[in-house]
Amino acid sequence: MSPVARQIQIRRMTAADIDRVTEIAATLNSVSAWPRTAYLDAANSAAAVPRLALVAGGASTGRQDRSGPKSPSVQGFAVASLLPPRAELEIIAVTAPMRRRGVGLLLLAALMAELRSAGVRELLLEVRASNQPAISFYCAAGFVQTGRRTRYYVNPEEDAVLMTAHLD
Ligand SMILES: CC(C)(COP(=O)(O)OP(=O)(O)OC[C@H]1O[C@@H](n2cnc3c(N)ncnc32)[C@H](O)[C@@H]1OP(=O)(O)O)[C@@H](O)C(=O)NCCC(=O)NCCS
Repeated sequence: MSPVARQIQIRRMTAADIDRVTEIAATLNSVSAWPRTAYLDAANSAAAVPRLALVAGGASTGRQDRSGPKSPSVQGFAVASLLPPRAELEIIAVTAPMRRRGVGLLLLAALMAELRSAGVRELLLEVRASNQPAISFYCAAGFVQTGRRTRYYVNPEEDAVLMTAHLD
């Protein structure tokens, strides 16, 4: 594990993380934008769609300044929707300066462990065919390609690569 990854803590996303999470999400070109309310829903365990949302970073400060609550130490996040025995990895991201230091794998390992405890046996995802860094990352994390959906994405139009990881 890299020295950076050793200092990272993985924890549940809370409402105090949403500003930072949306800030990170706004920097991603290869990932569809979610509205702020979708992240708030993901962090809410009582939401209609059951989701597991984790962040990578230090503990939330919980402090509030003029611009509202913040958790600036968050360097990555992941969200999965659950329908045991399956779950879908909807998004995972690490801030650009922190990539290739093992933070993504830490997030995914923690997510998979929690999903397994919740009765999930298969974790599915779809990713833009051009997002080779993410596809390599998913392969490194144990996912295998299971299919392809032609012209699944729009703006720009592109195929989706379907991948699955078995959690048992
Ligand atoms: C995909 C992403 C989350 C990976 O996070 P990360 O913290 O950089 O990943 P890790 O450091 O844990 O990488 C683990 C392994 O995955 C593979 N990998 C990760 N990024 C890679 C890249 N850019 N190119 C090739 N392989 C890569 C490598 O095998 C790596 O191990 P190594 O560094 O020892 O070679 C990150 O690149 C990211 O946030 N991308 C933008 C958002 C995105 O596209 N998300 C996926 C779609 S929702």
